[in-house]
Amino acid sequence: MTRDRPAASRRAFLGGAAAFAGLYGLAFRHATAASAEPIRLVAGPATAPLMGPDKAPARVWGYNGEVPGPVLRVPQGTTLALRFENALPQASTVHWHGIRIDNAMDGVAGLTQEAVPPGGAFDYRFLVPDAGTFWYHPHSRSWEQLARGLYGLLIVDEAEPPAFDRELVFLADDWRLTAEGAIDEASFGHMRDWSHAGRLGNWLTINGRSQPDLAVKAGERVRIRLANTATARVMTFRVEGHAPQVIALDGQPVQPHRPAQDLIVLAPGARCDLAVDMALDPGSEAPIFEVSHRDPLLAARLVYDPTAVVRSNASDAPLGLPDNPLAKDIALAGALRAPLVMTGGAMGRMESAVYQGETLGIRELVAKGQAWAFNGVAGRTETPLFEAERGRTVVVEMANETRWPHAIHLHGHHVREISRNGRKPEVSAWRDVVLLDPEERVEAAFVADNPGKWMIHCHMLEHQAAGMASWFKVL
Ligand code: C2O
Ligand code: CU
Repeated sequence: MTRDRPAASRRAFLGGAAAFAGLYGLAFRHATAASAEPIRLVAGPATAPLMGPDKAPARVWGYNGEVPGPVLRVPQGTTLALRFENALPQASTVHWHGIRIDNAMDGVAGLTQEAVPPGGAFDYRFLVPDAGTFWYHPHSRSWEQLARGLYGLLIVDEAEPPAFDRELVFLADDWRLTAEGAIDEASFGHMRDWSHAGRLGNWLTINGRSQPDLAVKAGERVRIRLANTATARVMTFRVEGHAPQVIALDGQPVQPHRPAQDLIVLAPGARCDLAVDMALDPGSEAPIFEVSHRDPLLAARLVYDPTAVVRSNASDAPLGLPDNPLAKDIALAGALRAPLVMTGGAMGRMESAVYQGETLGIRELVAKGQAWAFNGVAGRTETPLFEAERGRTVVVEMANETRWPHAIHLHGHHVREISRNGRKPEVSAWRDVVLLDPEERVEAAFVADNPGKWMIHCHMLEHQAAGMASWFKVL
């Protein structure tokens, strides 16, 4: 199987910008909800220096004029109040990815709210039950709106802040740019992307910059919050010369551990929190590579202060994060078993699927922009994939019967992988994105404790648009 990876051009593109090395730390403006006034979040056209200072900035869509949008930061257990204003030429919403949220605030156009038209506004107000690393993005034409730059990080702080000397954010995005550095608009909606790996890009940014320098000091213990905001590309990162420990996945704490081969694999939509000890000498530099690909690609650099040495108090503290209020054990007896069989895509075996109530052959489906199905149905319909009474354990039996990886995301809940290809997984984690390679099978269990209508879809957003989208109902 060959995956669609424009290797050569991706490298060539980066060559030109390799000279750019501005010092770049946590230079986002932070918006907090401490005041009574709601935060204002305006989506609209903006520009961003995606290719570095030597090229004309790209015309993007951003929140509050920025890509990524502002880091939103709230204490665990408090209410986030935010007024979303739409200054885009299209309708939009804000979805709060990974938050176990009140259903009415989930931001799914056509399911939990009407899309906010251009010039319109919507007030979001919700409690944040879990501490951790979350993010926000539109849930209306997501495949286009995220690819144009609409996303930002949502950090929910632990009541007792864990001991770290520094925190870095690391939002990785994969853009498809023209040679001039503009967003490649001509290829939006191409069925070739939609039926293959999705819209893979040719330009990697971290925090909206090309190969930024992340400033650190020798001796520090640093928390790095990584998120993959790309519409399609699965990314794998390696921090050279350091031994990162994974402390949370998709916002939820895990037993601290070194990832296999020190590789951090992030599906689109997924997050990972790392604890990293800055063990090199002052003045050192360490690259962070994206290695999903044959040749490692420089993503960012850790740049040590030339002289400072920090005597860290953090390094004696335990690494583990405090638990969130999520059930520790799931009682599997009597669980509702919900199959989720993925079919379709290029080189797949799918011959037909039901689309809008009609059984269509693959040609007819493609003519309607559809290429994938869940349980033989393409796209979200009036009927939920399953219904669960509140409090019921659900085991989603995911089966990837396609030739492509998929990143299955559930709204309003986190799921626990109980088996992968028939075996118990090594790391037990709560996830809101489950990555399945071709032919893989995963049983993912959760307690359906959050009433409402919840999306379940592939977070490769072109796959979502081309059929891999459904919903479930918690009564
Ligand atoms: Cu991050 Cu339904 O999405
Ligand atoms: Cu997919």
